[in-house]
Amino acid sequence: MTETSEAPQPQAGLEPGAEAGRVLKVALLGGGTVGSQVARILLDDAEALAARAGARLELVGIAVRNVDAPRDVELPRGLYTTDAEGLVDSADLVIELMGGMEPARTHILAALRRGASVVTGNKALLAQDGATLFDEADANGAELNFEAAVAGAIPIIRPIRESLSGDRITRVLGIVNGTTNFILDAMDTTGAQFADVLAEAQRLGYAEADPTADVEGLDAAAKAAILASLAFHTRVSLDDVRCEGITKVSAADIAAAQDAGLTIKLLAIAELVPLEAAGGPGGDLDGAAAVPREGVSVRVHPTLLPRTHPLAAVRGAYNAVFIEAENAGSLMFYGAGAGGAPTASAIMGDVVTTARRLLAGSPGRTGTATRTLPLVGPEAVTTSYSIGLEVADQPGVLARVAAVFAEHGVSIETMRQRIDGAEPAVEGAGRPEGRRAELRFVTHRASEAALAATVADIKNLDVVESVTSVLRAEGV
Ligand code: NDP
Ligand code: HSE
Repeated sequence: MTETSEAPQPQAGLEPGAEAGRVLKVALLGGGTVGSQVARILLDDAEALAARAGARLELVGIAVRNVDAPRDVELPRGLYTTDAEGLVDSADLVIELMGGMEPARTHILAALRRGASVVTGNKALLAQDGATLFDEADANGAELNFEAAVAGAIPIIRPIRESLSGDRITRVLGIVNGTTNFILDAMDTTGAQFADVLAEAQRLGYAEADPTADVEGLDAAAKAAILASLAFHTRVSLDDVRCEGITKVSAADIAAAQDAGLTIKLLAIAELVPLEAAGGPGGDLDGAAAVPREGVSVRVHPTLLPRTHPLAAVRGAYNAVFIEAENAGSLMFYGAGAGGAPTASAIMGDVVTTARRLLAGSPGRTGTATRTLPLVGPEAVTTSYSIGLEVADQPGVLARVAAVFAEHGVSIETMRQRIDGAEPAVEGAGRPEGRRAELRFVTHRASEAALAATVADIKNLDVVESVTSVLRAEGV
């Protein structure tokens, strides 16, 4: 923190700190979609921000790859530099919006080692190597804040870390990827196939030219790891998240879901799971017990939800996070999950909060992992499933399929049948040879292992032509 040699004239609305000429030097790493909006707000709203932070936030430079590149937001050219290292060395507060692993990681660590606080929106880096960054922040009494890393503009990190820190969160369900929600919503509305809607989403600029991270669920998985770490006070990294994207969701799956009063959403799910037998890795550092009684399951997959569930109402590219906590009950946070200005709003909230704490000389605690809970695999989780089959339309087929469910202890909740082809040409005549039926089963909660064994045996029945889909369901 620096004191200006010439104290600025006192301005209406400024808090005492800002009146006294306090200045925080802010370095911005990245001047792209989000960084350019952050710079705009820092420059355009300087007075209001100073009043709220208690110090003038001086933007000392913007590190980019190419200082001459055309920019959407008009900013003073002299701010741009390729010397990110030099900027970091001169700053009280560093905003990292380059994205990716390197050099973002190196710059963040360098800032934290100097005792400078960092604000970032880099979910990929946090999900893969957050532990190293948090340890460095704690070791140097610096802050590392990251509200923008999950669900863009939606305040969700601070509510979990602060507002709900006196409660016990048991479950988090999130629509945390706008691209996939846009695609699934469009499939639901138009009946179109995934590939056609993806092409349209790319044309409209919702989906990237390379949509892999979004449609394969990797972006949501990074956010799921961050949410799970915060909600359950344990460390969860990207590798711990079981992830399935939306590329296999078909128009037929969507239509069948609609028929059953359901919708399909790509959900990030993080939940506490009771461990049947005490044991396994890790220990509960919060209490006296050395052996954890519960574990954490974190997964991302297309999920069937009742159309009456609050998350079913999240349309287009919007995001929402639904939290279940022991005392608060159910809470939902909703809003824009991406975009330059919305994400910059979350970054600026962190910047002002961090500045206030820097001025007060009391950085908040960055590391949130107070215990080590075991990560549990799918075998410890029970879910309802929807299974689609194409079968021969013959007497006894349903009974044979139902018998396989029963053998594996998987209980059927509902079954729907759709017959392909024309009705018999002559009333009373038998079904034409070769006719097929589509069966859709929804099960009661069953383990992944029981479900996998059921599906494997169903596939081996001679009357089953194919298993067309297996989808997990929540709240049905
Ligand atoms: P962009 O790709 O639009 O911008 C990245 C910026 O970083 C560019 O200005 C680029 O310079 C600069 N940069 C990249 N690599 C280097 C490097 N090696 N040296 C110097 N400068 C570099 O990214 P976004 O603004 O979209 O995203 C930034 C971060 O925010 C990411 O971590 C992203 O995950 C996160 N985020 C983004 C959201 C969004 O809606 N876009 C939503 C939530 C989080 P140049 O301009 O010269 O190429
Ligand atoms: N690609 C992300 C999405 C935005 O579609 O939601 C940044 O997290």
